[in-house]
Amino acid sequence: MNNANKRKLFDSIVWSASLLFAFGLLISEASAESTGFSATNKTWSTECGSCHLAYPPDMLPAPAWRRMLSGLDQHFGTDASVDARAAAEIGAFLERNAGQGRKRGSDSGTLRITETRWFVRKHDEVPTTAWKNPRVKTPANCGACHSAAERGDFDEDAVRIPR
Ligand code: HEC
Ligand code: HEC
Repeated sequence: MNNANKRKLFDSIVWSASLLFAFGLLISEASAESTGFSATNKTWSTECGSCHLAYPPDMLPAPAWRRMLSGLDQHFGTDASVDARAAAEIGAFLERNAGQGRKRGSDSGTLRITETRWFVRKHDEVPTTAWKNPRVKTPANCGACHSAAERGDFDEDAVRIPR
């Protein structure tokens, strides 16, 4: 290969590498911005969605899901146990998709999404009276305000505090 051809080859490698890099940035930007959650698992949605919303896995860090799964027989005062096979499947799904990063990924020891620091901060402008509204009942009743919660969409565009 002569020098001119080497030069061309080098240029095209640099060019494709920077394109790839830019594309990668775009993708990671999009997922960092997204408040929607799309991964799903049938066992999880059936078992964990029978009493309340199947809370999206990225709302708690992996260690919290692990602790929760190991104590389902005493789940917030109720028995939510599932058979061992389902527990393993659900646990793997939750941990694989658990919250990441400084906010969602940090484990403060709580099993409640509604007690995590990011949750409290995101909701600091919700008036106290709104939490006590009988249509809301509990902060854990996400769907009362997030009309698209069932689809894992918590975007502010779909928020409506009931009156
Ligand atoms: C038998 C009913 C039942 C089943 C099944 C069940 N839960 Fe719960 N869960 C509850 C109750 C009751 C609470 C407490 C609700 C409250 O205090 O408002 C709760 C609370 C939670 C919370 C805390 C919500 C908050 O306050 O931030 C999480 C997270 C949760 N459940 C996850 C799960 C997962 C994961 C599964 C499946 C493995 C599951 N639940 C299955 C009854 C159930
Ligand atoms: C009483 C109504 C209410 C309830 C109940 C509620 N939220 Fe929210 N949520 C809000 C409001 C209002 C905002 C702020 C929207 C904004 O940024 O303007 C918000 C913001 C959020 C955001 C940030 C959205 C964004 O675009 O930055 C997330 C994520 C979220 N809530 C998740 C949850 C989850 C999960 C639950 C249930 C465990 C829940 N919320 C329960 C009212 C509520």
